[in-house]
Amino acid sequence: LTKPATLTLSGAAGQIGYSLLFRVAAGEVFGPHTPVRLRMLEAPQAVRAAAGVAMELQDAASPLVAGIEVTADPRVAFEGANHAILVGARPRSAGMERSDLLASNGAIFGPQGRAINDVAADDVRVLVIGNPANTNAMIAAAHAPDVPRDRFTALTRLDHNRALAQLAARTSVNVREIKRVTIWGNHSRTQYPDVRHATVAGRPALEMVGAEWADGVFIETVAQRGAAIIEARGGSSVASTATAIIDHVRDRRFGLADPTDWTSTALISDGSYGVPEGLVCSYPVRPVDGRWAIVPDLELDEFSRARIDASVSELLEERAAVAALGLI
Ligand code: NAI
Repeated sequence: LTKPATLTLSGAAGQIGYSLLFRVAAGEVFGPHTPVRLRMLEAPQAVRAAAGVAMELQDAASPLVAGIEVTADPRVAFEGANHAILVGARPRSAGMERSDLLASNGAIFGPQGRAINDVAADDVRVLVIGNPANTNAMIAAAHAPDVPRDRFTALTRLDHNRALAQLAARTSVNVREIKRVTIWGNHSRTQYPDVRHATVAGRPALEMVGAEWADGVFIETVAQRGAAIIEARGGSSVASTATAIIDHVRDRRFGLADPTDWTSTALISDGSYGVPEGLVCSYPVRPVDGRWAIVPDLELDEFSRARIDASVSELLEERAAVAALGLI
């Protein structure tokens, strides 16, 4: 066994936490040789429920779990954390104004960013899931000035996986035959699932599926999938989100199954592809030395440019709103 990894999960008593924690304990993220210390961060009113989940985790009797701690204090939770997975967020309730939503999330992600800055391990990686994920990641990063910018990501792997699955179903191939799909922009309805560079069993995807489907039904289906699941299941995507989190962390650590492929994550823009610096935007990425690197030099046609610009405008609006609230 190697040195244990410390993973801090916020929202640990929530639905995604309940699915994710047991899979981490089973070795799905770090493999069978790396023990993990689990730090479960919750809001004060849910600490008791988190302690109940911790009891069940104990009962799973995993030889890979080197410790379980439950706390409502971010400075305790992130102490020595190598992986910070931020799921806990304030959901939008009926009649809530957007500025109220952003302000209550700022009150969560600001202090958590500050705690990560002050007490996490030097190699900490931060992955934000709680919505609005891109902007929450920007708020956390703004409060963690000592942490390198490329350590902050927001999850768009679920959108990416949804795009792979739709394309595989449409072309009747195994999902492993689909390569180089990209999710650009915000984790929201404005996202742009892009097949312009994708291949299906080595053939150009766009030729196989046609622009009408790729630019219409495909984009709509992927971007609205979360809403479709809520309608059908009566609840939001939980297990598939946990799968996407595991895929994200595992691929960054161990590399892609096919190194010529790429995946998607939202990260802090360095200005690549004309996206304003500092916005947390989804890009095509590959893992390089344990960090995500943007795939460079892809050509963007007019359609792609317009779709990316539309999602970036939404990110700019969100940034202006949190700046106006003094959250960044
Ligand atoms: P949930 O409501 O079951 O769990 C959220 C948990 O976060 C609750 O237990 C709550 O007590 C906790 N929490 C609230 N404030 C906290 C704080 N300050 N510190 C620590 N914990 C806190 O929700 P679920 O289904 O687990 O989803 C969580 C979030 O993930 C939501 O914001 C949802 O929109 C987002 N999401 C994002 C996806 C993505 O692809 N980026 C996909 C699916 C969900």
